[in-house]
Amino acid sequence: MFKRFVVLMIVAVLTIGLLPTASAQEGEVWCGTDQPVTITWIAGTVGGEHEAALALADKFMKEACPNVTVKVVQRPESTTETIAQYQQFFEGQSSEIDVYQIDVFYPAMFKEHLTDISEYATDEFLAQFYPAVLNAYTIEGRVVGLPWFAGGGMLYYRTDLLEKYGLAVPQTWDELAAAAKTIQDGERAEGNAAFWGFVFQGKAYEGLTCDALEWQVSYGGGRILSPEGVIEVNDPATIEIFDKIASWVSDFVPPEVLNYQEEDARAVWHAGNAAFMRNWGYAYTLSQAEDSPIRDKFSVVPLPGKEAGMSAATLGGWGLGVSKYSQNIEAASAFAIWLTSYDQLVDFHLMRGEQPVQPALYEDAELVEALPYLASMGNVLEFAIARPGVAGAQYNTVSEKYYTAVNNVLAGSVDAATAMADLELALADLGFELP
Ligand code: GLC
Repeated sequence: MFKRFVVLMIVAVLTIGLLPTASAQEGEVWCGTDQPVTITWIAGTVGGEHEAALALADKFMKEACPNVTVKVVQRPESTTETIAQYQQFFEGQSSEIDVYQIDVFYPAMFKEHLTDISEYATDEFLAQFYPAVLNAYTIEGRVVGLPWFAGGGMLYYRTDLLEKYGLAVPQTWDELAAAAKTIQDGERAEGNAAFWGFVFQGKAYEGLTCDALEWQVSYGGGRILSPEGVIEVNDPATIEIFDKIASWVSDFVPPEVLNYQEEDARAVWHAGNAAFMRNWGYAYTLSQAEDSPIRDKFSVVPLPGKEAGMSAATLGGWGLGVSKYSQNIEAASAFAIWLTSYDQLVDFHLMRGEQPVQPALYEDAELVEALPYLASMGNVLEFAIARPGVAGAQYNTVSEKYYTAVNNVLAGSVDAATAMADLELALADLGFELP
């Protein structure tokens, strides 16, 4: 049923004569060149991502394009720090990196440095992606990245502990607080002093923007900026939930959360020392690994809301972009296309979890079995909340002001009402509209 994109692509490429030197036969993978070339891919890092990147690059060299050598280098673990590193390469118009792993919110920022990959991928190939996610990597009609995987915040919970304490899966933030506290008290009373009720990403970086956006949307408090550019932070519901979560810190949320990225939260959870965790889909696969202390002792559900059913998940995920300064744009594009083709995406998700960017993958029997949340939680791309695209190239500045303000509230150095009033003015100074 599934028609391999390569066949279509080769036919299209030969028809429109884009690649006069291509000698690919039907069924072969397009490699961009038949000359020996080396390309460098910057990717990976968070929890097994780098290992997956190495395995895929190896497969490409062995099975698909032996004439193309792919060198994999690691990006910093934090997406915020990754931006700074990419900026250096781009500002220097460096040809050192050919393929970039780009976060879903990077395209507006880096659009002028990335190739329009639709020049190399056919419409049939592009049509396999979920339109909303392809759209996130399309700026002014240029496809500056191919979607690789998606994500949405999920609530991880310990099934064994909910059962032990006779608790239901929380659907509201208040229920989560009550359950987290009960379990923490019980586990500590039994001698585990390292046990915490709830862990998440609280460091002043992009991860906190994702978590806090979920808090405010799930409380009915707006979404930082409306699609029209109206500021949505100084809102009673937002203030209420931010103060509420701040009051949990040092009670049943570890004080170190102020410095937690994804992997810091997961380390506590993975050791069996947290009842609940907010994280992305990658943590599922690692928590279910053969040697994981919590294997078969956890499940995932949508995050809580102010009321049951008000859950929100921030849209996360990454794509692959090809640098305009690459000396091998065609081989680099061929590699990005190969990585985002159906079969390689199946391999990727089996190694890495996360959520797929092609609707057909949600029906893939092998994936549905390995990642039961694909069926139970639904297609994240249908309900996730995007970070405010209206901010365009200013997004990183907006986010930095936002996560700094929220981190200060969590630290208890300012109350949410004051922090959000100040943030509203700071965003107005950037040119966004006051409500
Ligand atoms: C994950 C998401 C990404 C998000 C980041 C925040 O990597 O996939 O979209 O920006 O977390 O830490």
